[in-house]
Parts: sequence; structure tokens; C-alpha cells
Amino acid sequence: MLSTLSSLSGRSLSRSTLYENIKTGLFVYILLRQTLKAKRHIQARGLFTTISEIHRWISQEVVLLVLRLPSAKAKVEEEMGKAKLDIENQLVPKGPNVVRHLYLPQEGQSLEWILAEMDKMDQEKDGADWRHGRISGAVYHGGDDIEKIIVAAYQRYCVSNPLHPDIFPAVRKMEAEIVAMCLRMYNNLDGAGTMTSGGTESIIMSMKTHRDWAREVKGVTEPEIIIPSSAHAAFDKGGAYLGIKVHTIPVDPITRKVNLKHVKRAINSNTIMLVGSTINFPDGNQDDIVGLGALAARYKVGLHVDCCLGSFIVPFLEKAGLAGGNVQGKYKLEPFDFRVKGVTAISCDTHKYGFSPKGTSVVMYRDAELRRHQYYVLPDWSGGVYASPSLSGSRPGALIAGTWAAMQYMGDKGYLESCRSIVTCARTIAERITTSIDELYILGSPPASVVAFASSHPQGTINVSIAAVQSFVGRSAK
Ligand SMILES: Cc1ncc(COP(=O)(O)O)c(C=O)c1O
Repeated sequence: MLSTLSSLSGRSLSRSTLYENIKTGLFVYILLRQTLKAKRHIQARGLFTTISEIHRWISQEVVLLVLRLPSAKAKVEEEMGKAKLDIENQLVPKGPNVVRHLYLPQEGQSLEWILAEMDKMDQEKDGADWRHGRISGAVYHGGDDIEKIIVAAYQRYCVSNPLHPDIFPAVRKMEAEIVAMCLRMYNNLDGAGTMTSGGTESIIMSMKTHRDWAREVKGVTEPEIIIPSSAHAAFDKGGAYLGIKVHTIPVDPITRKVNLKHVKRAINSNTIMLVGSTINFPDGNQDDIVGLGALAARYKVGLHVDCCLGSFIVPFLEKAGLAGGNVQGKYKLEPFDFRVKGVTAISCDTHKYGFSPKGTSVVMYRDAELRRHQYYVLPDWSGGVYASPSLSGSRPGALIAGTWAAMQYMGDKGYLESCRSIVTCARTIAERITTSIDELYILGSPPASVVAFASSHPQGTINVSIAAVQSFVGRSAK
């Protein structure tokens, strides 16, 4: 009896010891994982940035807490109401002739009525005069003639949908040809790609592709990418959508190129992809793609080159005789396409300097094997086999047709000419700012179509120059 009792208590003792050991093991495992995560984070972002991130996070939490207090809540709601009204006044067409149509009309309206109503909306809000080149960025207009071509192609393929290639084989063919033409422009004859709805979707798809590739090939389950601080917000958006951690690395204040040493320090076993732009959105500069490519090849990670904005300008600079920059060596274009070792993907927006209809872009990969990771296939869906290359299911075949038509209409010669005239204009602006306005300087050495300037005044104020800049920007734009 005594021996049974002692063996029972011995067993429960050893069970509780086992339980304690498991608990301790689990605790050590979690502690180790979190320590490793923290180490990687600090290694990538630096101690100072990490501390300021923690400080910012705590401040935000405190502010949110304060805003929940009833008195603060009422004040915030009042201010938000004012801001909303302000935005509405700025953006929503208003006026005596504008009627808000919040119900379906009982009877369908005629084309004349619809166009007249649109006229009223356009007239009541005096939007920027983009048709005459009076707006910087935002609009990429190839001219009235190309608009007609696009509308004709759109009309013809209005209801087409490449989700059903058996019904619309012409659309599938046009999409494949658009991708092939872009791959050729970016010097990759063995590559692959797909069309998407715009630069953001191209970038997000490339992130997904590299994430799934790294999971399959390297077993990465906590993916991270490394981007320059000048990279487009689409990378942060993709990170938020896809559960990918984004490390943002500062750019050099003079060259505006990402700091390669810092990029190298941020690479770890979870890194799936590096990013560089040719050219970036904020100031039109180009990252050191050759340097990034060498890092990508050395650490066996992807390198996405964002040419969404460079699109149909950067591939033509060499042929236009503008890649070498000016006599002082400014505005020089460095290698950026698939000829650079380590580049695994490039995004190129047809709806920017390709002058195709809005809602089109191309994402390209070094080879078809990498592209495979972009696709989504559900073979046993109750509605039949579902296969789709990008975020959307149904896609507008009309936009593909419009893009194909625009590219056929422009041709190599058309894009070469547009590259020459746009870049010459940008460089004239940059040169005039440099030589005639002491208070301003050009950020970096932008090789293509975007020029950004800042104040050289110590307090960062610009006293006299905006009117002068506007007047000669206006002249150059003509
Ligand atoms: C460099 C760069 N990347 C990505 C994008 C995103 O393109 P989209 O607005 O077509 O989504 C832009 C847009 O201006 C851009 O300039």
C-alpha cells in the first residue's frame, strides 16, 4: 500500500517536473525568438531609430488614449467635421446647375443627357488645366490623336475579360504581346510577366511572388524586404497587405541614393527582396541598381527595380543620346534593367509615359519560374477551376486593348521622341534653377523626367523664386 502510494506520488511528481520543464522550454524558446527578432530589427534599423520608433509608438498610444476622453472626443469630432466640409468644398462639383443623382432614374437617360450632365460637372469645378501642360505630374497625356486610338480600341473590347481567354483569345494575345514588348525594352528576352491595374498592383504582386518563392525555396516564414526611404508607398502598402516586414533605409542627402552599407547591414535570413527605383517618385533620382544587384546576388535574395515612373522614358534615354548626362557629368543614367546581375523583377507603368489608358502596368520577372509564384490557382473550386495571375479576378480587356493600341500607335520612334522632348524640358528646368536661382538647388542628379528642388536658405524659406520658377517652367513646358 505504502509502496503504491509512493510510486503514485513519484509519478505525479515526475509529471509535474515534466510539465515544469515544458513550460521552461517554451519560455526559453519564446524568449530566444523575440530576442532574435529584436536583434534583427535593431541590426536593420539601428539603435537610435529603434528607440525613436518605440518613443513614437508610446506617444501615439498616449494620444489615442487622451482622444478617447469625452471632452477631447467632442473637440476632435468638431474639427473633423470642419475638415470634411473643407475637403468636400474643394473636391465635389457644386453650383446652381449641378444636381446630385442619388437615386436610379425611373427611366433610362439618353446619351445627350448624360454628356450634358458631365459637361455641367466639369464646368462647375474649375480643375487644373492639364490639357495645356499646366500641371506637374498626375496626368500622362499622349495627345488628342492617341486618345482617339485608345477610345476606338476600348469600344471594340468594352466587355471583354481575360479571365475567360477561351472567349476572348485576342485579349490574351494582346496582353502577352504587351509583356513581350516591355521585356524587350528592359533587355530580357527570356523573361516573363503579367499586366496589372497599375504600379501599386505590380509592386504588390512582385512582393507576393518573392514571398512565396522564398517560402518554397528557402523556408522563410517571416518575410522582410529592404527599401530606400525614397521608395514608393506601394511597398509599405504591400507589406501591410501581405504580412511582410518593411525596413526603410535612409537615402544619402546629396546623391539621394539608398545607403548600400546600411542595406547590407539590414539583410538577414528573413530577407526576401531588396528594392531600388529608376526613377523614384519624390525627387526623380535613381538608386545604385548595380550595387543593390551585387548585394542581392551575394545574399541570394530578390531585387525589384521600380521603373513604374521611369516606364517608357528610362529605356529610351540611351538611344536618345541623353543617358550620359551633361558635360559636368550630371543627370547620368546608370544601368538599371535586366542586364544588371541580381535584378529579379521590374515594374513598368504603361499608364504613365506609355500613354496608355489609366489602370494598366506590367510586372516583369527574370524568368517564368519566378513568375509561377505570382499565380493563384484553385483547381477544385465548386465553380470550376479558378486561375488568376493577379489581385483582380475579372479584368478589363478593354484596357489591355487600349494599351496595345497605344503602343502600336506610338512605336519605338514615338516613344523615343517623347523621351527626348520630356527629358530635355526637365533638364532645361533643372539647369535654369541651378544657374539662375541662388536660393534653390536641385535634389541629387535626376536622370529622367522628374526634377525636385529645395531651398538653399538656412531657414528653408524661399522668398522670391517661386514666381520666377513658374514663369520659366511654363515657357519650357511649351
Ligand atoms: C516610382 C513609382 N512607383 C510606383 C507608383 C505607383 O503607381 P500607381 O499610382 O499606378 O499605382 C508610382 C506612382 O506615381 C511611382 O511614381
